[in-house]
Amino acid sequence: MYKPDDHILVIFGASGDLTRRKLIYALRELQKLDLLPGKFAVLGIGRSAYTDDSYREMIAENLDDPGEILPQLHYLSMDPEDEKAYPGLAAHLAGMSSSMQMDPNYIFYLATPPSLYGAIPHHLSKVGLTREGGGTWRRIIIEKPFGTDFQSARALNASLLELLQEHQIFRIDHYLGKETVQNVLVTRFSNGIFEPLWNRNFVDHVEVTSSENLGVGSRGGYYDHSGALRDMLQNHLLQLVGLVAMEPPTVISSDAIRNEVLKVFQAIRPIRGDEIRKRVIRGQYMASSVRGETLKGYREEEGVPANSRTETFVAMKLFIDNWRWGGVPFYIRTGKRLPTRVTEIVIHFKPSPHTLFDELHPGHGQGNLLVIRIQPDEGILLKFGMKVQGAGYKVQEVNMDFHYKDLMDSYIPEAYQRLLLDCMQGDSTLYARGDAVEAAWKFVDPILKAWKEDPAIPLHGYPCGTWGPEVADQIIEGEEQSWRYPCKNLADDGLYCEL
Ligand SMILES: NC(=O)c1ccc[n+]([C@@H]2O[C@H](COP(=O)([O-])OP(=O)(O)OC[C@H]3O[C@@H](n4cnc5c(N)ncnc54)[C@H](OP(=O)(O)O)[C@@H]3O)[C@@H](O)[C@H]2O)c1
Repeated sequence: MYKPDDHILVIFGASGDLTRRKLIYALRELQKLDLLPGKFAVLGIGRSAYTDDSYREMIAENLDDPGEILPQLHYLSMDPEDEKAYPGLAAHLAGMSSSMQMDPNYIFYLATPPSLYGAIPHHLSKVGLTREGGGTWRRIIIEKPFGTDFQSARALNASLLELLQEHQIFRIDHYLGKETVQNVLVTRFSNGIFEPLWNRNFVDHVEVTSSENLGVGSRGGYYDHSGALRDMLQNHLLQLVGLVAMEPPTVISSDAIRNEVLKVFQAIRPIRGDEIRKRVIRGQYMASSVRGETLKGYREEEGVPANSRTETFVAMKLFIDNWRWGGVPFYIRTGKRLPTRVTEIVIHFKPSPHTLFDELHPGHGQGNLLVIRIQPDEGILLKFGMKVQGAGYKVQEVNMDFHYKDLMDSYIPEAYQRLLLDCMQGDSTLYARGDAVEAAWKFVDPILKAWKEDPAIPLHGYPCGTWGPEVADQIIEGEEQSWRYPCKNLADDGLYCEL
């Protein structure tokens, strides 16, 4: 692991929740691991009136054990929307890099509301802060959401590409920063045993689930303009589908991997017209009592209109029309206020071609399962049939089970830690490329449009603490399958899951 070049990380939105909870924590971890460059500083930007000292105090109050990161934090109070403030920012950065005797390499992290993702790069560019040259580099990290539909994502991409080159733009999809998501690539492409089976000949169907047990909490105002399809499926779930379904890249490089993910997105069969109603189910959580606690319905949450039609659950069946996956359904679902928090990918292999043991054990006979658990309890599980000891040939299902936490030196870095380090090193492999983001929006756009324009498409209520509307089961059960319910034993906090 080589250290990144010396640089200054400029965070717009430095007083915000993301910076306080995730970004500074990630930087502290990188520093502990000695992965930050020899000369490094953070310049926080915001309208809030902090000084360097009061900003450090605020961060210290929000971070357990700030370690040595505080002296590296600086703050400049300015309104990021005000173009006239940018010459001052440029002068400030030039002063910082010259007093630190370092090259003026800058990362600009846009942790502001998305309405500023166009203006900030424009203003930076006007004062020359996006221009690379003479061995120095300039990069921009853009938080989610990247657009709200295909048109807005395309317009944002176009405006960024007028100012910057693609290699300077880092679009965050924090799922890609998760260790277990990257492990999908390693599992598939470093083992000889899986890849030969990873296709329509041996895979019956694939499931991707990302569930949360929490509701929208205080983010109702934001969430109501977004919904599960935009907030989770268009980005995180489709990225998982991309990694599971992609062809092997020829090398592990940013473009090689992202080219293959793009091809998957381009091969997803569009869902249009009547198919939307049949293959996409939307739901919204309703008040109910879960383990003795009364939980609010979505429409009673703070900031949510009483007649909101925003979906907090979405399940869909999609097909990837290519040689490898022709005819194999991918079932994906995500939702809030489900029984537990879990993200997993399940590969359902086809059953054995000739059933020898069914009579003795009618429950068996389904195919093997490979479960890639993304969070929590990161790991991989293979389910297979084994003989019950004793007379006859009864078959029982057993687990071959790997948990990251069982590794002696298990250390799972936070997604933002990995992503920040990658950007510092100029590696965009785990960031979404503009064309893939547009392709993903292109796929979900007709669904969003139909939901908005056709009130006859139902929005199903589901009680908090259930696996979403029952009708979601039909898109999979109609085919003699069922969703995997990953949560066998719920602990009191509702979080415990058994693979
Ligand atoms: N929080 C998370 O866990 C999380 C997770 C994933 C993605 N994100 C994304 O990351 C971004 C930041 O999230 P956040 O939760 O940190 O948001 P936030 O707390 O609402 O806002 C971040 C900062 O932006 C500044 N700001 C707010 N409105 C502004 C405006 N109209 N003009 C200029 N500055 C404004 C504020 O600082 P000043 O008032 O000091 O200017 C605020 O502290 C969002 O786009 C969000 O979607 C957040």
